[in-house]
Amino acid sequence: MRQATPLTAVIALPLFLLFLSSTGSHAHNITTILATNPEFSTFNHYLTLTHLASEINRRLTITVLAVDNAAMSSLLSKHLSLYTIKNVLSLHILVDYFGSKKLHQITNGTALTATMYQATGAAPGSSGYVNITDLKGGKVGFGAADNGGTLDAVYVKAVHEKPYNISVLQISQVLTSDEAEAPTPGPSDLNLTAILSKQGCKAFANLLLSSGADKTFQENVDGGLTVFCPTDTVINGFMPKYKNLTAPQKVSLLLYHGIPVYQSMQMLKSSNGVVNTLATDGANKYDFTVQNDGEEVTLKTKVVTVKITGTVKDEEPLVVYKIDKVLLPRELFKVAPTAPAPKAPKAKAKGKAEAPAEADAPADDTVGDQTADNNGVGGMDGGRLVMVFLSFCMGVLVL
Ligand SMILES: *[C@@H]1O[C@H](CO)[C@@H](O)[C@H](O)[C@H]1NC(C)=O
Ligand SMILES: *[C@@H]1O[C@H](CO)[C@@H](O)[C@H](O)[C@H]1NC(C)=O
Ligand SMILES: *[C@@H]1O[C@H](CO)[C@@H](O)[C@H](O)[C@H]1NC(C)=O
Ligand SMILES: *[C@@H]1O[C@H](CO)[C@@H](O)[C@H](O)[C@H]1NC(C)=O
Ligand SMILES: *[C@@H]1O[C@H](CO)[C@@H](O)[C@H](O)[C@H]1NC(C)=O
Ligand SMILES: *[C@@H]1O[C@H](CO)[C@@H](O)[C@H](O)[C@H]1NC(C)=O
Repeated sequence: MRQATPLTAVIALPLFLLFLSSTGSHAHNITTILATNPEFSTFNHYLTLTHLASEINRRLTITVLAVDNAAMSSLLSKHLSLYTIKNVLSLHILVDYFGSKKLHQITNGTALTATMYQATGAAPGSSGYVNITDLKGGKVGFGAADNGGTLDAVYVKAVHEKPYNISVLQISQVLTSDEAEAPTPGPSDLNLTAILSKQGCKAFANLLLSSGADKTFQENVDGGLTVFCPTDTVINGFMPKYKNLTAPQKVSLLLYHGIPVYQSMQMLKSSNGVVNTLATDGANKYDFTVQNDGEEVTLKTKVVTVKITGTVKDEEPLVVYKIDKVLLPRELFKVAPTAPAPKAPKAKAKGKAEAPAEADAPADDTVGDQTADNNGVGGMDGGRLVMVFLSFCMGVLVL
């Protein structure tokens, strides 16, 4: 029935494996590494509070510029918000490997290196880079590139080195950067629909806004939120069915695309099972099953099986994934028959649903016999395949 599926899988699977392998190893744990050394306890504590620890652990090649408790005290005396402290500390995480040996052998004696502050896209212009310069007397100076050429800190000692995966180096001071220290909005100040609109999820964002469901999503960002966004093409193909839903059903369908916890790709990969959604409300379960076949993560409702095709944004406590179909809850759509009888030709079946719902969302009052093959991209053609392929590549590049 879904002629496109095997081809989609052939293209998607290797890319998906590549995508996963870039986040897939837990070779080091910065919390454990720093815990052996009490003089870094404050720095360590703030890496955990800001969720930077898990970002460090996810990277395969990383250098952490640690500062002792005295240096952290002078940072904390500035009374910055936690989100601003996160920016400042992310400037101390170099996305390259610098062991103590490499520090003293920098080509031409000076280099600018990218940090996690730069990598998250939060840093404007040249801020987000750190200048490392070999100074006379065997010293090595460090400064934020946007700090007017001042190198505030010098290298103290190597704390932990595991070439070429993780290096933890102590430096004498916290690096000063006006950009990193500028007031930063916390996650609850971030506008989720604005983020979605800019990242290829504009159609989904518009539905959230027009239905009012955006408020529930937004309220959940602070406590941790995972959003599954059907891409614009998918939403456009689904609109005829969407329009047949009542207003409360529309809200339930949209809320079904959010889980009120942060679930990184690794967490999704390592957890098979039923998850509740933002639409879950007592007897109206609105749940679905996360299932991993090897490396591939699928989301299964009783009606449809959906694949994750890329990551739009992953910044704990918020993560947004792109999906290749609309998630259809059994509370609103007819359950796919186990042995589907041959149906009318696809061109006719597409966009044709039966019996519109009368009540708001009772379990049995479904909106037609919608199954996987007439959901949005069911009849995926070459053009759409290319788009899925491209959004995959973009997902890989973002990582
Ligand atoms: C270092 O990272 C590589 C991947 O780049 C990984 O395969 C390897 O297991 C890691 N080595 C150690 C010692 O953690
Ligand atoms: C790292 O270690 C800490 C405690 O030392 C633990 O709480 C945390 O779960 C570990 N993180 C990972 C990713 O294993
Ligand atoms: C080092 O300096 C030389 C001469 O000034 C220049 O050509 C080269 O690109 C520099 N190398 C690096 C890595 O900056
Ligand atoms: C790093 O800073 C030093 C001191 O201000 C400066 O001389 C050097 O040119 C800078 N290095 C780079 C690569 O910008
Ligand atoms: C987010 O931005 C949209 C416009 O892009 C606006 O309509 C909406 O009210 C904003 N939401 C919040 C929570 O500020
Ligand atoms: C929407 O409902 C109408 C009548 O209630 C029906 O004729 C139409 O086929 C339905 N369309 C879709 C796309 O479900």
